[in-house]
Amino acid sequence: MRASALPVLLLLATACGERPDRATSKPVTIGFSQAGAESAWRTAETRSILDEAKSRGMVVKFADAQGDPEKQQQALRSFLLQRVDAILLAPIVETGFEPVLREVRAAKIPVVLVDRGVRVADEGLYATLIAADFVAEGRAAAAWLAQRLGGNARIAELQGTTGSSPALDRARGFAEELAKYPGMKVVKSQSGDFTRARGKEVMEAFLKAEDPAQPFTAVYAHNDDMALGAIQAIEAAGRKPGQDLVVVSIDGVRGAFEAMVRGQLDATVECSPLLGPLALDAVQQILAGRPVARRHVVPLRVFPKEQAAAELPNRRY
Ligand code: AHR
Repeated sequence: MRASALPVLLLLATACGERPDRATSKPVTIGFSQAGAESAWRTAETRSILDEAKSRGMVVKFADAQGDPEKQQQALRSFLLQRVDAILLAPIVETGFEPVLREVRAAKIPVVLVDRGVRVADEGLYATLIAADFVAEGRAAAAWLAQRLGGNARIAELQGTTGSSPALDRARGFAEELAKYPGMKVVKSQSGDFTRARGKEVMEAFLKAEDPAQPFTAVYAHNDDMALGAIQAIEAAGRKPGQDLVVVSIDGVRGAFEAMVRGQLDATVECSPLLGPLALDAVQQILAGRPVARRHVVPLRVFPKEQAAAELPNRRY
C-alpha cells in the first residue's frame, strides 16, 4: 500500500464508525445511558442519537434509566463490563457520578455528556459536554415575559426534575433576569418533573390554593410538556391560557407550536434535542485521538405565538 493512501483509509474508517487504531473492521460500540422518556423533547433526543449512530454504522447499547439515578449508575457499570468503546451519558441529576466515572476512566472509556451536566470535582472525568445554556434559556424566558406583561406579573413556576441541571439553571437564569423588574414575582414554584401529567397536577394545586384577590397572571414552565399539562388545568378551572394567564415554556416541541397556533401557549424558548450528529462527531474525534472542545453550546431561539403558524411546518421534533 502506498503511504499516501493511508490517511484517506483512516478517514474512511472513522467516517464509517470504525476505530482507526484497530486492524479489525469491528464497528464502534457505544453505551448510551439515557435519563428517561419523560418528555417529547427526550424521545426526540433518543431518536436523533440512535438514528445517527445507525447511519454511521455504529452499534449502540441503549439503557433507559426511567428517571432513576441508581439505575443510571448501574447502566454505566454494565457498559464497563461490556467493554464499550465510548459512553454517551444524559444524566438525570447533576450529583453522584464521581465514583462511577472514575471507574469508567480507569477502564479508558471516554465519556461524552449530552444535554445535561454533572457536578464533579475532577472535570477530566468526561471529555466534553454538548448541551444548551440553560441559564440563558431561563433568562430569555423571563425577559420575554417581562416585555410581554410590561414588567408586572404574578408567576406560577413549574420546575423540572429536582437536582437536574436544566431545572437548577433554568430557575436561576429566570430569577436573575426577573430581579431587574420589581413588579415581576414568582409567587409559587414546584417541580412538575418535566412531565405533562405532573405539570397538570401541580398547576391544579396552585389554582386551588390561589388567592382570588391576587390571581396568577403568568406561568413559567421549565419545559413544554409541563406547560401543556398546565394549560389543561387552567382550562379545567374555567380560565383562558394565553389570555387570563400568559404561558411561556422551554423546548420548542411540535406540540408547543400547535398550542401556540391555538392561542393557548404564548411563547417557547427553543432548546434543540437533535444532538445525534454533534455527539457522534465528538465520539469519532475522540476515538481517532483528535482533540474536542470541552463544551459545545447548543444555541437558543425564542418563538412567540405570533410566529408559530409560519414556523410549524419547519419543526423536526
Ligand atoms: O435536559 C433537557 C430537558 O429535559 C428538556 O427541556 C426536557 O423536556 C427534558 O425532559
